[in-house]
Amino acid sequence: MTADMSPMRPRVIVNCAMSPDGKIAGTERRQLRISSSEDMDRVRRLRSECQAILVGAGTILADDPHLTVKGLPKERQALRVVLDPRGKVPETSMVLDERASTLMVTNEDCTRQYAGTEVVRLGKGTIDLNALLHVLGGRGVSTLLVEGGGETIFSFFQAGLVDIFSVYIGEYIIGGREAPSPVDGDGFKAGEHVPMRLTSVDRLGEGVHLTYEVLRDA
Ligand SMILES: NC(=O)c1ccc[n+]([C@@H]2O[C@H](COP(=O)([O-])OP(=O)(O)OC[C@H]3O[C@@H](n4cnc5c(N)ncnc54)[C@H](OP(=O)(O)O)[C@@H]3O)[C@@H](O)[C@H]2O)c1
Repeated sequence: MTADMSPMRPRVIVNCAMSPDGKIAGTERRQLRISSSEDMDRVRRLRSECQAILVGAGTILADDPHLTVKGLPKERQALRVVLDPRGKVPETSMVLDERASTLMVTNEDCTRQYAGTEVVRLGKGTIDLNALLHVLGGRGVSTLLVEGGGETIFSFFQAGLVDIFSVYIGEYIIGGREAPSPVDGDGFKAGEHVPMRLTSVDRLGEGVHLTYEVLRDA
């Protein structure tokens, strides 16, 4: 394929909700409702504007989300994408139901099949996220929404693939040194931090929604 025939890389929006002390769940890593109802409306609108929604296996195991928008017909639901490098997501997970199409992403060593669900195998050990965006771009995905958790969001930042960081800050403290945060992983060393520009601040119910644009070549 020549360069000008390559599909466009999808724009990557990270969206999550955290407590004022910077946690996306408690130490037991179970789902907590952090968003206000106004923020949940915003997330529904955002989901319906994206062609694909991605989470990591850890979020599936912890929260078992279905990643759909209630009321939308199947053909208008975003493609659900799950990073499951070693094939540990249970067959009974809601993300594997019939409400929307799903793409499971494993590494190249994993042979797991998921009943009735498409699989792509990308990368040795860790998943090659650039290759994944190429696959999604080739399917007409122009905007990918990455919803978590902290390990997955870190891996997108580490690969330099995040365009927009959108975070809702709720109104109660969660606490706990082991509680996950929006961007976990190994973290960035001094001098490698990711520069961003704050582009909007909106009060939504009792919390606040912030949008940042990631700066390239800063
Ligand atoms: N408040 C919010 O907005 C929000 C949203 C989502 C989730 N959460 C919370 O976040 C927590 C889960 O977060 P988490 O960080 O533990 O899990 P996670 O990010 O959902 O999933 C992490 C796993 O995904 C796989 N993965 C991610 N990036 C990869 C890459 N580049 N290559 C290969 N594999 C990759 C790895 O699977 P393997 O382990 O198999 O290697 C990794 O351990 C839960 O407590 C959940 O409630 C909160």
